[in-house]
Amino acid sequence: MVDMKMLHSFGRAKTVDLGGWFDEIEAEVYQSLARHIRCGVVIEVGVWKGRSLSTILEVCRRNETRVYAVDTWKPDLRDGYGEAAERNIEAIFRQNIRRLGYAESVEIFAEKSCKASRRFPDGCVDLVFIDAEHSYKAVMEDIRHWFPKISKSGTIAGHDYTTRAGVRRAVDELFGEYVALPGGSIWAVKKSEFSR
Ligand SMILES: C[S@@+](CC[C@H](N)C(=O)[O-])C[C@H]1O[C@@H](n2cnc3c(N)ncnc32)[C@H](O)[C@@H]1O
Repeated sequence: MVDMKMLHSFGRAKTVDLGGWFDEIEAEVYQSLARHIRCGVVIEVGVWKGRSLSTILEVCRRNETRVYAVDTWKPDLRDGYGEAAERNIEAIFRQNIRRLGYAESVEIFAEKSCKASRRFPDGCVDLVFIDAEHSYKAVMEDIRHWFPKISKSGTIAGHDYTTRAGVRRAVDELFGEYVALPGGSIWAVKKSEFSR
C-alpha cells in the first residue's frame, strides 16, 4: 500500500510539494508494473513535480533499476498548467527528488519526449510510462517514438486513459484489444502480447 500522505510528512524543513494528478490506486498499479523489473530501465515521460514517479523510486532502487525522468517543464499553459508560468516546476521536481532521497537514482532529461527517445537503443527499456501532453496527436507521437524502445518482455503504459479522450483514442487505435486497464486511469500494453 502506498501512503501518499507519508510522502508529504518530511517535517517542516523538508516538506515536498508533490501536487499532481495521481491517486493511491494508480500508485499501486504503477508499482506493480515496476516491481518485477531487475537491473532494468524505467522511463517516465511527463513528470511535472514528481508525484507519480515518486511512487516507484524505492522499488526501482531496491531492484537496481535505473530510472529516467523526461519533461520539458514547458507545458501548454492553456491546458491547466498556469502554475508553470509563475514557478520553476523543474526546480521543484529536482528538489522533491533530492529531498525524498533519490537524487542519485534518477537521471533527468529536460527535453521533448521525442528527442529523449532517441537516446535509447531499440529494445532496451523495460517500462515506459507516458503522462505528457494528452492530445490525440501528441499521444500517438509519444507511443510511436517509445514503443520501439521497449524490450521483448517490457511494457508501455500511461495515464489518463479514462479522463482524456485524446489518450484513449490514440491508445485504442494503436493497440486495440491488447490494451489492459489495470486500475485508475492507467492503460498498459505488454510488448510480448501485442507482438504475438
Ligand atoms: C500531467 S503532467 C505529468 C504529471 C505527473 N506524471 C504527475 O504524476 O504529477 C504532464 C507533464 O508533461 C510535460 N510535457 C508535455 N509535453 C511534453 C513533451 N512533448 N515532452 C516532454 N514533456 C512534456 C509537461 O511539462 C508536464 O510536466
